[in-house]
Amino acid sequence: MSRPDIQLQPDGRLRHFLTIDGLGRDLLTDILDTAESFTGVSERIIKKVPLLRGKVICNLFFENSTRTRTTFEVAAKRLSADVLNLNISTSATAKGETLLDTLRNLEAMHVDMFVVRHADSGAAHFIARHAAPHVSVINAGDGRHAHPTQAMLDMFTIRRHKGEFTGLRVAIVGDILHSRVARSQILALNTLGTSEVRVIAPRTLLPADCRSLGVHIFHDLEEGIRDVDVVIMLRLQKERMRGALLPSEHEYFQLYGLTEERLQAARPDAIVMHPGPINRGVEMDSQVADGPRSVILQQVSFGIAVRMAVMSMALGSQAGGGE
Ligand code: CP
Repeated sequence: MSRPDIQLQPDGRLRHFLTIDGLGRDLLTDILDTAESFTGVSERIIKKVPLLRGKVICNLFFENSTRTRTTFEVAAKRLSADVLNLNISTSATAKGETLLDTLRNLEAMHVDMFVVRHADSGAAHFIARHAAPHVSVINAGDGRHAHPTQAMLDMFTIRRHKGEFTGLRVAIVGDILHSRVARSQILALNTLGTSEVRVIAPRTLLPADCRSLGVHIFHDLEEGIRDVDVVIMLRLQKERMRGALLPSEHEYFQLYGLTEERLQAARPDAIVMHPGPINRGVEMDSQVADGPRSVILQQVSFGIAVRMAVMSMALGSQAGGGE
């Protein structure tokens, strides 16, 4: 008998959101549909719904972040939750307090949800296993393992522009080896029924188990993006590289950097995505990053609605944004 998924309640509803792995198409579609109902909240004069009034959400970011931390905070506030942002560099963690002791102390303040980013793969699962029964944990990126809300906001962006996943060709370009985003995107794209998922990278930046993820592998950028509907560029994750995996950033750009000229190989209506932060002139040219096919800033905006969806579903308040 398979072990129950720690992420799910016995009735199949979301309790934690730690990884896309093991979640079904219906649940992922439910997240996208719920996010759709929240997009209008940002357009209102009073950008709030009372769904999580009285709940306390704690952002626990042990690693740097701009987009994820702030959009989680905005999302929690739009749901009327109270938000705690623990500043790790000035917290007692810096004096040697263990992760579990930090957790217990925050639980003593009646926190209902932890949003966790950590450099160690598995950190969010560890916290979820040790959290009090009423507490939910959302993984905001752990090591090179998973970044499930990033993947879902990317799926939301693709669905907004392309409709159905069936019939789509999606290419993910760059440092697949170190990318928690790519792993989560590949799982989500395949679960949602994408016709073809391609990865394009030098051999040194591909994981050994890449083919088992259900992707087609390319080493040539122009060949790989030919006729694709979506091009997702990834940052070189230099902070996770051990040793020299690339000759130089200049050479990387010559081979794998996305330019307007190279983008001509994709479908004429192809969109260009990037989870951020972008290294301009390394993985992509500014003309492309700021060009008409780029939906990079839309990804950030949609991230608020998707994070509202995940938080409200995990805390059992999935009434949508209708109020
Ligand atoms: N995409 C992403 O995770 O960006 P941040 O590191 O700024 O949160």
